[in-house]
Amino acid sequence: MKVAAGWLLRCIDCGSMFDSDPAGYTCSRCNGLLEALKEGGSLTRGELYGRPAKGIWRFRALLPFGPDVRPVSLDEGGTPLIKAVNISRELRVRNLHVKNEGQNPTGSFKDRGMTVSVTRAVESGVRVLICASTGNTSASMSAYAARAGVTAAIIVPAGKVAAGKMVQATAFGAKIIRVDGNFDDALSMLLQTISGLPGFAGMNSVNPYRLEGQKSTAFEIYEQLGFSVPDYVVLPVGNAGNISAIWKGFKELRDFGITEKVPRMVGVQAVGASPIARAFWKGSETITPVDDPNTVASAIRIGKPASAKKALAALRESEGMALTVTDEEITAARSLLSSKEGIFVEPASAAPIAALREISGKLEKDAVVVCVCTGNGLKDQESIRIDIEDAPLVSDRSGLTDLLERLASRPLVPA
Ligand code: F0G
Repeated sequence: MKVAAGWLLRCIDCGSMFDSDPAGYTCSRCNGLLEALKEGGSLTRGELYGRPAKGIWRFRALLPFGPDVRPVSLDEGGTPLIKAVNISRELRVRNLHVKNEGQNPTGSFKDRGMTVSVTRAVESGVRVLICASTGNTSASMSAYAARAGVTAAIIVPAGKVAAGKMVQATAFGAKIIRVDGNFDDALSMLLQTISGLPGFAGMNSVNPYRLEGQKSTAFEIYEQLGFSVPDYVVLPVGNAGNISAIWKGFKELRDFGITEKVPRMVGVQAVGASPIARAFWKGSETITPVDDPNTVASAIRIGKPASAKKALAALRESEGMALTVTDEEITAARSLLSSKEGIFVEPASAAPIAALREISGKLEKDAVVVCVCTGNGLKDQESIRIDIEDAPLVSDRSGLTDLLERLASRPLVPA
């Protein structure tokens, strides 16, 4: 199917240009990753931000769709940017903001991309959507498939996905296929199979339309900071689509003449699943895959990220950095964010907060830092010990009063 007027798909490896979608959404010459390019021109801030639509579809001026395409949408995007006033002293970052992506319709940033890639697939007449996933992609894709009235098939690593995410996929009616292996095995099986299967559309982030939706995070951050570009954007990196997308968003703001500067991108991985951080430190453009990735943050338990090349370019071009954090640091940061700021995120989403401890001393004193917290904590409860059985049990008013007096450390009822 033809790409929208004024847009092309370009292979980041061999530079081939396509004016229609190749099978499997990868380069039909060299199998490289594609990116969507809007041809030339400039935009005013009003042209990008002034539309009346909600969520990411406000930004149609930079989305590869003609005006009459009807989005498959659940009002994704438009998530809050919260100033983290309570933890900023402890983390020694004065101007710290959390972009709370857990408030998207299915509880993660994936919805921003999925509304776009599903709209495109449905527009092309596809009836079955398919993805490999550590959980959130599958939950999101299943919701948008339900909304569009098409079939969702999800491929997940057996026993390695948080229960809340499988509950979502089940509720949305997805066909679930388990792979005896990890996410990387699931994704490579899918990518090898999909291009020979007409009628199926792959919804992983190798699909360039996904990134077109996810770049809206950059547009929102700029607007929410009072039309100002942050100094640093810190986010977890797994399959590496999101860092590539958000960087593309900031670059487009600059290249279309809306902003003058771009932020430094800071990618955070778990120590046990850190192929991108290692490649970045070595100055390499390609990764050495990690065969048995391991971390409590199941969403980013990925050893062979499909969009590694785009992510490494984002880190380099933005003069950013890659960091790793341990599982203990992730768990402590998750609990800091929930207990001090009231923001409950899943383990992967706490990685950027954990990383701040490592770098805050090196940042400029007034640096504006945005942590993208990618997913809602309600989906991944396994990793939290619930103390409910140890909580005091009362059976009458005097027992309750007694307890409350102890809480208040004084008598509540006058003697
Ligand atoms: N945070 C969360 C909560 C995620 O679910 C993911 C990826 C990431 C961060 C990393 O983003 O892959 O674009 O670098 N989850 C994918 C999934 C892989 O299948 O749900 P990325």
